[in-house]
Amino acid sequence: MRQKIVAGNWKMNTTLAEGIELVNQIVGKIEEVPQDVKLIVNTPFTHLFPVSKIIGDIKCPFCRSKISLGAQNCADKEKGAYTGEVSAKMLASVSKAVGTVAGAPEGATGAPVEYVILGHSERRGYYGETNAILLEKIKLALSEGLKVIYCVGEALEERKAGKHFEVVGNEIKEVLFNLSPEQMKNIVVAYEPIWAIGTGETATKEQAQEIHEFIRKTLAEKFGALAEETSILYGGSCKPSNAKELFSQKDIDGGLIGGASLKADDFIAIAKSF
Ligand code: PGA
Repeated sequence: MRQKIVAGNWKMNTTLAEGIELVNQIVGKIEEVPQDVKLIVNTPFTHLFPVSKIIGDIKCPFCRSKISLGAQNCADKEKGAYTGEVSAKMLASVSKAVGTVAGAPEGATGAPVEYVILGHSERRGYYGETNAILLEKIKLALSEGLKVIYCVGEALEERKAGKHFEVVGNEIKEVLFNLSPEQMKNIVVAYEPIWAIGTGETATKEQAQEIHEFIRKTLAEKFGALAEETSILYGGSCKPSNAKELFSQKDIDGGLIGGASLKADDFIAIAKSF
């Protein structure tokens, strides 16, 4: 059975106080989330430490197991003179440090930063991240024990020109085909058509299913049966009103949610849409 996932990509939104409030609201409703659905909150870097503690402090083990913490990026270098960058090792170190925070109960540890989003079209487009750079980032993230939500997707012109299979296929082959099957087990793929991100325009369920199936078939060329176990998420204006029809598709295992992940009610409603 593939893991069902609803991942929130907060992007560059929320102050620290607002982020803490949001995660507290999500945690407050976590009982409503079906046990077989994994929520992931991918917060800004500044929020990881306190959010790690909030999630780590969830008392009920069933509820605790339903939510994971993630970041939105990491560096393509291990360490050193790269001003402004945050390494995979730093992300992996966050949860270990939570127990040392003043006032933390003895032996407390926070939730690990378990996931990192890589390859988002905003990173590819605004910050020039190529497939080669992304492969370096992915390898570093995996070597630190992080799981990767790897994003792929085509631009509107590419879809209009009928090139979406080619574009997405290349994003898969040039990056993920360089991983071992062991590494691939820690990859979640997110298909996000660029024309649907933040635009209110969603791919139809048929469009989304068609390309998710293509992604799975492409992965199978290299990884065989493992492709059947890889969660492939849909992202791009996914919201409570359209999540159910998208998630009902055979090859859609959940969503990567931007705007709607900033409201706890919407995020939880999406998680209840399988
Ligand atoms: P959106 O963003 O849900 O606001 O369209 C999705 C994403 O970019 O991950």
